[in-house]
Amino acid sequence: MKKENTEENNLMEKIVSLCKRRGFIFSGSEIYGGFAGTYDWGHFGLALKNNIKQNWWKKFVDSRRDMYGIDAAILMRQEVWQATGHVANFADPLDGKAFNTMLKTQVGAKKDEIAVSYLRPETAQGMFVNFKNTVDAFHPKLPFGMAQIGKAFRNEIAPRDFLFRQREFEQMEIEYFIRAEDWEKYFDYWKDEMLVWMEEVGIDMSKVHELEVVKEDRAHYSSRTIDFEFDYPFGKKELFGLAYRTDFDLKTHKLEYIDEEEGGKMVPHVIEPTFGVDRAFLALILSSYKEDEKDGEVRSYLKFKPSIAPVICAVSPLLKNKPELVEYANTKVFVPLKSEFGRVIWDDNGNIGKRYRRQDEIGTPWCIVVDFDTLTNNTVTVRDRDTGEQERVKVSELISYIKDKLD
Ligand code: GAP
Repeated sequence: MKKENTEENNLMEKIVSLCKRRGFIFSGSEIYGGFAGTYDWGHFGLALKNNIKQNWWKKFVDSRRDMYGIDAAILMRQEVWQATGHVANFADPLDGKAFNTMLKTQVGAKKDEIAVSYLRPETAQGMFVNFKNTVDAFHPKLPFGMAQIGKAFRNEIAPRDFLFRQREFEQMEIEYFIRAEDWEKYFDYWKDEMLVWMEEVGIDMSKVHELEVVKEDRAHYSSRTIDFEFDYPFGKKELFGLAYRTDFDLKTHKLEYIDEEEGGKMVPHVIEPTFGVDRAFLALILSSYKEDEKDGEVRSYLKFKPSIAPVICAVSPLLKNKPELVEYANTKVFVPLKSEFGRVIWDDNGNIGKRYRRQDEIGTPWCIVVDFDTLTNNTVTVRDRDTGEQERVKVSELISYIKDKLD
């Protein structure tokens, strides 16, 4: 069906085209005609995605004392998925029948060793199957959590809407183990924590809505789910989820916990805050995309927080054919900034106006230009992405100038 040429469709087209043009995201297997539901991450997309993941890990793992990270194998024995009900229930309707959306593969070379396996459809089970290992290794007291960031795969019947519904995507998940009687308290606690993170990372909170998912629409393991929905250009749809998984998974895997405080064995209950990395990325880009008019031209820019932007600053010699400018820009500005901040790029392509427009679309908060005055007074211009205003800053103070702004 032909899409209507609405402003919202235009916005999505603009985002997809910006992501390709500026090296964020490319269609998977593109030179062979693409591969539905898969995307390849270019340099800047990867940088932004890594920043999202690092920010999440810092908040939910590194800054807490009750969280244990794990990076479990993607391939697991099929018994895991039989036990959890995924083999029987992880399905979408297709022509009146249930179509299981787990991606099946086989492992092993010799005929009698070949076993069916599945590419995990959620990272969650990698945590549950390591529950005992984690308890034995770290002896955590309840409540405590496990956290994982990693790929998940679903053979979606109709992958669509760019990063929104893919067949290969990434999740950031927490399984938080609690006593059954505390579930409401921790459900509310994690709801708030999720909202705080969304705001911190830069998602436009006026576009985020909570949906209480009714029983018929909940996953088979959940007795309460809230979806956080986002106003995408293609409609209000799920961004992240929060589920009360009860003791379903641990019971299913016949796992228990020795409760030293209360005495005896018990099975903890689980609150699960789950975040799709790709949807976080999409919501963040949609929240950050702005257009305004500069010098009679429409310019588009990505208004990322500097701490999350793929590039913190770009360094340019005013003219690339003037060796004295290039030498100064490289040795006195670029190299020190690069070794301090890492996410610093050299940009001498095209005229200054073109460089600014390119950096605006990448979302680079500051462009630093070395010009002829620099050679005499050791100052550079620092141009602000959002206002377009330029300031002269002493080269000797550049690092602390950027640091102050980052803080
Ligand atoms: N462990 C629970 C779980 O996997 P889910 O709601 O099915 O719950 C969690 O998935 C999150 O993963 C979603 O909120 C969404 O952000 C992301 N997600 C799910 N399917 C996706 C897909 N096909 N493409 C991109 N992201 C997806």
